[in-house]
Amino acid sequence: MMQIKPVLHLFFIFLIFHWPIDVTSSIQQQQREGELEALLQWKFSLKNSSQALLPSWKLLPLPNPSPCNWEGITCNNAQIVNHIILKNIGLIGTLEHFNFSSFPNLLTLDLYGNRLFGTIPPSIGKLPELIKLNLSSNGFEGGIPKEIGGLVKLISLSFSQNLLSGSIPLTIQNLRSLSVLSLGSNLLSGSIPSELGKLTFLVELRLHLNNLTGLIPPTLGDISGLKVLSLYGNQLSGVLPKEIDKLTNLTHFFLSNNTISGSLPQTLCHGGLLHCFCASNNNFSGSVPKGLKNCTSLTRLRLDRNKFHGNISEDFGIYPNLDYIDLSYNDFYGEVSPKWAKCRLLKSLKISDNQISGEIPAELGESSPLHVLDLSSNNLSGQIPKEVGNLKYLIYLNLSSNKLSGYIPQEIGTLPDLSYIDLADNKLNGSIPKQIADLSKLLYLNLRSNSFGGNVPIEFGNMASLQLLLDLSHNTLSGAIPPQLANLVKLEVLNLSHNHLFGSIPSAFDQLKSLRLVDLSYNDLEGPIPESKAFEEASAESFENNKALCGNHTSLKNCPVHVKDKKAAISSLALILILSFSVLVVGLWISIGFVCALKRSERREKVKVRDLHNGDLFSIWSYDGKLVYGDISEATESFDDKYCIGVGGHGSVYKAKLSTGQVVAVKKLHSVHHSKLENQRASESEISALTKIRHRNIVKLYGFCFHSRQSLLVYEYLERGNLANMLSNEELAKELNWMRRINVVKGIANALNYMHHDCVPPIIHRDISSNNILLDSNYEAHISDFGTARLVDIGSTTWTATAGTYGYIAPELAYTTKVTPKCDVYSFGVVILETIMGHHPGELIYALSTTLSPLESSNDVESLQLKDIIDKRLPIPTAQAAEEILTMTKLALACINANPQFRPTMKNAAQEL
Ligand SMILES: *[C@@H]1O[C@H](CO)[C@@H](O)[C@H](O)[C@H]1NC(C)=O
Ligand SMILES: *[C@@H]1O[C@H](CO)[C@@H](O)[C@H](O)[C@H]1NC(C)=O
Ligand SMILES: *[C@@H]1O[C@H](CO)[C@@H](O)[C@H](O)[C@H]1NC(C)=O
Ligand SMILES: *[C@@H]1O[C@H](CO)[C@@H](O)[C@H](O)[C@H]1NC(C)=O
Ligand SMILES: *[C@@H]1O[C@H](CO)[C@@H](O)[C@H](O)[C@H]1NC(C)=O
Ligand SMILES: *[C@@H]1O[C@H](CO)[C@@H](O)[C@H](O)[C@H]1NC(C)=O
Ligand SMILES: *[C@@H]1O[C@H](CO)[C@@H](O)[C@H](O)[C@H]1NC(C)=O
Repeated sequence: MMQIKPVLHLFFIFLIFHWPIDVTSSIQQQQREGELEALLQWKFSLKNSSQALLPSWKLLPLPNPSPCNWEGITCNNAQIVNHIILKNIGLIGTLEHFNFSSFPNLLTLDLYGNRLFGTIPPSIGKLPELIKLNLSSNGFEGGIPKEIGGLVKLISLSFSQNLLSGSIPLTIQNLRSLSVLSLGSNLLSGSIPSELGKLTFLVELRLHLNNLTGLIPPTLGDISGLKVLSLYGNQLSGVLPKEIDKLTNLTHFFLSNNTISGSLPQTLCHGGLLHCFCASNNNFSGSVPKGLKNCTSLTRLRLDRNKFHGNISEDFGIYPNLDYIDLSYNDFYGEVSPKWAKCRLLKSLKISDNQISGEIPAELGESSPLHVLDLSSNNLSGQIPKEVGNLKYLIYLNLSSNKLSGYIPQEIGTLPDLSYIDLADNKLNGSIPKQIADLSKLLYLNLRSNSFGGNVPIEFGNMASLQLLLDLSHNTLSGAIPPQLANLVKLEVLNLSHNHLFGSIPSAFDQLKSLRLVDLSYNDLEGPIPESKAFEEASAESFENNKALCGNHTSLKNCPVHVKDKKAAISSLALILILSFSVLVVGLWISIGFVCALKRSERREKVKVRDLHNGDLFSIWSYDGKLVYGDISEATESFDDKYCIGVGGHGSVYKAKLSTGQVVAVKKLHSVHHSKLENQRASESEISALTKIRHRNIVKLYGFCFHSRQSLLVYEYLERGNLANMLSNEELAKELNWMRRINVVKGIANALNYMHHDCVPPIIHRDISSNNILLDSNYEAHISDFGTARLVDIGSTTWTATAGTYGYIAPELAYTTKVTPKCDVYSFGVVILETIMGHHPGELIYALSTTLSPLESSNDVESLQLKDIIDKRLPIPTAQAAEEILTMTKLALACINANPQFRPTMKNAAQEL
């Protein structure tokens, strides 16, 4: 109120000045002035930043100012305000100072999608002409005032998505013209008033996602024109009143997530108009309504998680429009009907956890658009028909916990999008088809508890996308564990237990950096366990009942000295080599299998190196020690420009196809000045740390050659180049759609979180920019040049702030040279904004950054208009994407806080996303 006073004071002077002059002044003139005053008074009650969103709301034109041209205001012919529509513009404030009595002619008040809070004032009932009232998607709290019943002409009332509590006021029955009543997504409690049945013109009644209790009133059956009845997500109980039968015009009927019992009316859908019927997660019992059998209008049907009973092959018909059906968790019996394949638009068929028996009909293969097929936890028998290979759009296949037998049809390997396969707990046998490895999008593979024999296919090492699970346990697999599985660098859970596997665990398994859980128990394995966290911290049960495993684990014996020290011995040999190469070769990291041998190396050392090639350590990845400087030099024709794919601050990058066939990116550093050997030795551990990093969002540094004449870094090669290029190219920027961009940001966050918080000591990138984010064929982000800045600076005792790219450098580096993880956080914030906006935020950064703590500044963050900054080349994001983009933007603003102390850590940032 304080800030309102001076303005109003001026305003009154203005009124005194004009009133007597305008002799025609009528009641209408008074009303116009009252409206003007009321609107301004409300504007000045809003938060300062929101006032700025209404620049047109000012006393103009003099001498007869009028609100009729103001943003969001419409007037009738008599210059009286009749519509106030301010949707989605980010207003922050309350309605406490909104003088409703000033608007006797108002027809529409629409404040949807702002940040208004506080209670809805009872005076809102003083809008006698109001037809449409929309306060949805704000932060209003408290009860719905009973005075709402005064808005007798109302046709549409929407208060959804607020924090309103208390019960639905009975006075709502006075709104006899109401056609739409939307109170969903609030905290309303109490029962649904039976008086709602008096609103006979209602077409949409939405009360979902509240805390409403009690019975569904039979009077709802009186609203005969009702089309949408949405009651899901409450605590409604009792049986569905039979009067619901009368609602023959229903198209959308939602009852999910309540505790309603009894049976459904047999006549459901007898109007023939029902599109969506969702009754999942209730206590319904009895049979499926007869009316549903020929309900051809259905697009979505959910009866899952009830106690429905009946023969599934007889109760359902053919639905030409059906997109999604879920009948899981009921008591259906009978067989999977070939009729489902005749539902020509069906994308999801879920009938898990019932008593379905018989075989899977081969005709199901004709169900061409099927994306999701879940028939798990039934009594299905027979073979998996090879026709599943025709389901070209299949993403999710779950046939687990049945009695299926025979082989897995190898045709399964031809489904391009299949990413989830669960065939666990069946009686499948034969060998595991290697064609499964052809599924380039597979994330989850569970073949547990079957009777598979033979070996683990070595081709499984090619399933680079496998991330969530590889479970082959409880089968009769034999042979050795293929070392190729070490290529599954994204894999989080590996279970090979309860088989007949023998030999040693490939030591290369220490490269499985994403692994969280591993179980190799009940096999015939022997020898050392891999030296990695996942193995060393695994539970004791993970290794029990094997032949002779040893290693650094509480449940295992230490390995015999000659085994344990093998690696150390080789490392010290490596050290000797380094020293003898020292004039030429400054660094040499052997254990990842990359040897940088220079032409002038002495014959004696060459012999040693060759000896090492035959050791275990060189069989890791696709490198076997043959990779030499000469190979790279040859592949690039001595670094010819035509192989150059980029020039950066630290050097030029070349694409090199090695003699092994592998394509790598080689960065040739600008000359590096080395000081003393001591410095190089000190940094050796750092360099080795960098080569050991394995993270799905970090470009792999395969190895390096560090030499006074020429220094090379060898990286994984990524097809799509860097983020900056993609965003600057109209065509490519469109390809990088919102979901992909969101994923890019998450990928960067994960990588930085890993480097800052999972590496000891933490590694700071120092040069995060869109130039250093590379994208692979799946648009997955990979941070490149990790530690380059650091490598380049090796030898210089102080770190200069010049590393880093202008426009991404944290402001504190202007006055300090101390590089902290928070510098990366700042650059990360810039990259987020760039990804959202499609270009570098430029000067906007200074407008957006603040030195206030997040608590003090949160409201300013909120007033940022997303729609104004997001990349216009892309279509408007979906609601879900928009929400993620908003979260990302808020995070970005926190990251570019000028005060490093107030920036989040990468751990917080990654969690936030
Ligand atoms: C809001 O604006 C008024 C006038 O422009 C100013 O006096 C006041 O300090 C501002 N309040 C805040 C919190 O910035
Ligand atoms: C609200 O508006 C009415 C009519 O314009 C006026 O009589 C009344 O004084 C106003 N109330 C306030 C608190 O400004
Ligand atoms: C919902 O209502 C129940 C019973 O009236 C009450 O115990 C519970 O606290 C309420 N929950 C919320 C979130 O209001
Ligand atoms: C049902 O909808 C139709 C078409 O919209 C309409 O003509 C009919 O009056 C409605 N029935 C009732 C009972 O309102
Ligand atoms: C029902 O509740 C479950 C669990 O809380 C939730 O996952 C699901 O989305 C809800 N379904 C609906 C339709 O609200
Ligand atoms: C379904 O069949 C019944 C009886 O055969 C019929 O009365 C009803 O109109 C049909 N409904 C639809 C939607 O075709
Ligand atoms: C042994 O494993 C623990 C983790 O369980 C690890 O902290 C430690 O460094 C390992 N020791 C050796 C010698 O690798």
